Amino acid sequence: MTDNEKKYNIAVIPGDGIGPEVMDAGLNVLARIGDKFGCEFKTIKVLAGGAAIDETGKCLPQETVDVCKTSDAVLLAAVGGPKWNSLPGDERPERALLGLRKILGLYANLRPAMVFSQLADTSPLKSEIIGGGLDILVVRELTGGIYFGEKGTKETELGPAAYDVEQYSELEVERIARTAFNLAEKRNKNVISVDKSNVLESSRLWRRVVESVSADYPGITLDHMYVDNAAMQLVRNPRQFDVLLTSNIFGDILSDEASQITGSIGMLPSASLADGNFGMYEPVHGSAPDIAGKDIANPIAMILSIAMMLRYTLGLSCEADSIENAVNEFLDKGYRTPDITGEGYKTVGTKETGRIIAELIK
Ligand code: IPM
Ligand code: MN
Repeated sequence: MTDNEKKYNIAVIPGDGIGPEVMDAGLNVLARIGDKFGCEFKTIKVLAGGAAIDETGKCLPQETVDVCKTSDAVLLAAVGGPKWNSLPGDERPERALLGLRKILGLYANLRPAMVFSQLADTSPLKSEIIGGGLDILVVRELTGGIYFGEKGTKETELGPAAYDVEQYSELEVERIARTAFNLAEKRNKNVISVDKSNVLESSRLWRRVVESVSADYPGITLDHMYVDNAAMQLVRNPRQFDVLLTSNIFGDILSDEASQITGSIGMLPSASLADGNFGMYEPVHGSAPDIAGKDIANPIAMILSIAMMLRYTLGLSCEADSIENAVNEFLDKGYRTPDITGEGYKTVGTKETGRIIAELIK
């Protein structure tokens, strides 16, 4: 590989709350990867969310969109906070996320929910349920469904009402189903597709299309589960899940539930992918304004999101492995951030965590 091929442009959105702190820790680790492996990551910081509203009056300035579009990948820490809660729906910081997903075509959201063996006792579930660990991959459709469907208000015989439409095209279901099956090929070869086809027309289409895509993947077993049952099964027997394929809204809800049963939401990364290799990478946790600016937030989800970026968008799997190994070593050595600490551990803050993990990169 020539030098030229190892230069990458990364759009960086620190955002709000703990966002800037965890991003700094993550970029520290990325810089170390650059030094160790001889690649160049050119990071360009841009505004989105509350920080962008304060600075420019808009949650997603055009400049941010332009920089993201011309980058190889986007890193986003977190957006939102109470300061902007009273703004109308389409001006809130969260709108920036929906806008970026749609504009950048990021239809496939990968949310791994795994229990780190060193943290097995932080799960709120009994050890006989969690067993030797947990490794679920939620594959959530991210640019369709009720979050993007027709919405409005109208008069009804019961008075004023509001509505949001859940709509899926065959094409939208087909492409996210293919993402799920392709990922299952590299894992335990099981897809459980979530729907509410006993009630919803859009879910009946969903199930039919997922079934027909599965014909192309004879090595993968496919099961279907109603969303209410899936919510229950996640706490009853989470180890039955490998790849969990969902619509936008069902995945929003179930991925929060899955992350909570791991007991360490501060550790979980995510990827939002477009066709091709482009992607946006962000921690599953939010902006946590209550602990912002105190140097106590856990930056590991951000750091692992950077590892996902190296793996999925930049094709740098050795570099990604070395970050994941460094995180494991950090835990093995007994270091813990305040959210996961306990007696007998060495509690370290956000900056120090970034510094130690960077140092452990081999
Ligand atoms: C998430 C968030 C977003 C979503 C919000 C902030 C728009 O909850 O990424 O899960 O609902 O998708
Ligand atoms: Mn959510």
